[in-house]
Amino acid sequence: MTAQKASIKTEVPGPKSKELGRLREEYLSKGVGIVAPIFIETAEGSLLNDVDGNVFIDMGSGIGVNNVGNRPPEVVAAVKGQADKFLHLCFQVTPYESYIRLAEKLAKIAPGKDLTKSVLFNSGAEAVENSVKISRHFTKKSAAFSFVHAFHGRTMMAMALTSKEMPYKAGFGPLPETYKVDFAYCYRCPLQMSYPSCGIACADKIDEIWSAPQFEGKVACLIGEPISGEGGFIVPPKEFYPKITKICRNHGVVYIDDEIQTGAGRTGRMWCVEHWPGTEPDMLVSGKGIGGGFPVSATTGRPEIMDAPQVGGLGGTFGGNPVACVAALAQMDLIEKALKNVSKINVYMTRRLLELQKRFPIIGDVRGMGAMMAVELVDDAKTKAPAAKETKAVKVAALQRGLLLLTCGTYDNVIRLHPSMVMSPETLEQAMDLLEQSFEEVIKK
Ligand SMILES: Cc1ncc(COP(=O)(O)O)c(C=O)c1O
Repeated sequence: MTAQKASIKTEVPGPKSKELGRLREEYLSKGVGIVAPIFIETAEGSLLNDVDGNVFIDMGSGIGVNNVGNRPPEVVAAVKGQADKFLHLCFQVTPYESYIRLAEKLAKIAPGKDLTKSVLFNSGAEAVENSVKISRHFTKKSAAFSFVHAFHGRTMMAMALTSKEMPYKAGFGPLPETYKVDFAYCYRCPLQMSYPSCGIACADKIDEIWSAPQFEGKVACLIGEPISGEGGFIVPPKEFYPKITKICRNHGVVYIDDEIQTGAGRTGRMWCVEHWPGTEPDMLVSGKGIGGGFPVSATTGRPEIMDAPQVGGLGGTFGGNPVACVAALAQMDLIEKALKNVSKINVYMTRRLLELQKRFPIIGDVRGMGAMMAVELVDDAKTKAPAAKETKAVKVAALQRGLLLLTCGTYDNVIRLHPSMVMSPETLEQAMDLLEQSFEEVIKK
């Protein structure tokens, strides 16, 4: 990929973006928030060109979607080719090949050779909803569990499984009944223990909870993100998931691996959970990055689980739309080729972030995997009081310089970096320089 540079020509947001922002306030629900008040006209690779002629480096990738950059030519060609054939039929009315081919592809690359059957949907949340439906049908049990700090989407069940109240859940209840268990957030251990002497006690607690009368024999599923995304890019230790899936097996609980944000190559493996050898998910939910910018998601699982629901119980009008399917097939090929590039991106980002941490003690933790790295900002290294104000200020300062950053975290104090897996070294270097300059501006040493 050729080098690409950020450049800022107007104030940010510029006059045209400001005018569109005014229309947004007039016609859009306030419930739809935006990260950056810039309106984009075109996007190419890792660069976003706004309506005022400013060029931004994209460290968000549309929240982990454009894993091989914006508008890869192969994806665009596949979409154009499909547009000349048909746009929509509804697979449940008259089927077509690309839906089957995408399911076949997912079976071939799934994290576990037993995960061979899929259903396609439109959004991540929809795949999550269906993974719970299918788990309940298969197990004939009802309780659905997720982790503290989790994010699984904005529909009713997905929202219930999500952890953070503001802004995701507050005021939207009553929600379906779900239950939370502790996540291995070692920087802020929920059990006030330390790794590795803890022996992964947080996982053992799940075993205890499911063995107690309230839940024994009643749990259908546990859903988890390998790295908690919206929760703050939290990476559990290597023993965590093998232990979790073993506990699930022992209790007859379906383990659902939510790879909507972490998957599709983002961490240098096709699925992030592959970084935890010995982990055996029963189901995979994917979305975001698999579609190359088109809305397609999937629930993939062991055949006996996926075949449990009655004929007609699963599906939807647009699920596995033909344009999205061909885009996804082209995208998955590109991702497979780009996997080898991710470790270079990771090594460079990690080095720059650790150097930044040395200069700015407000950075309490540097963590992540592959092209999914983050820094957690704290007011004080001992108390770890979240520095949410400064986190937001760095994001705002970066945008003024031409760097689009996303933040996340249960305490709104994490800056996350989500570059494309094919970002050029020159662009990545400029991005990290701009990040450093933003810290210099905002953080008083
Ligand atoms: C881990 C995870 N699960 C589910 C979702 C929901 O996906 P969607 O926004 O496509 O519904 C997201 C979205 O950010 C996510 O990160």
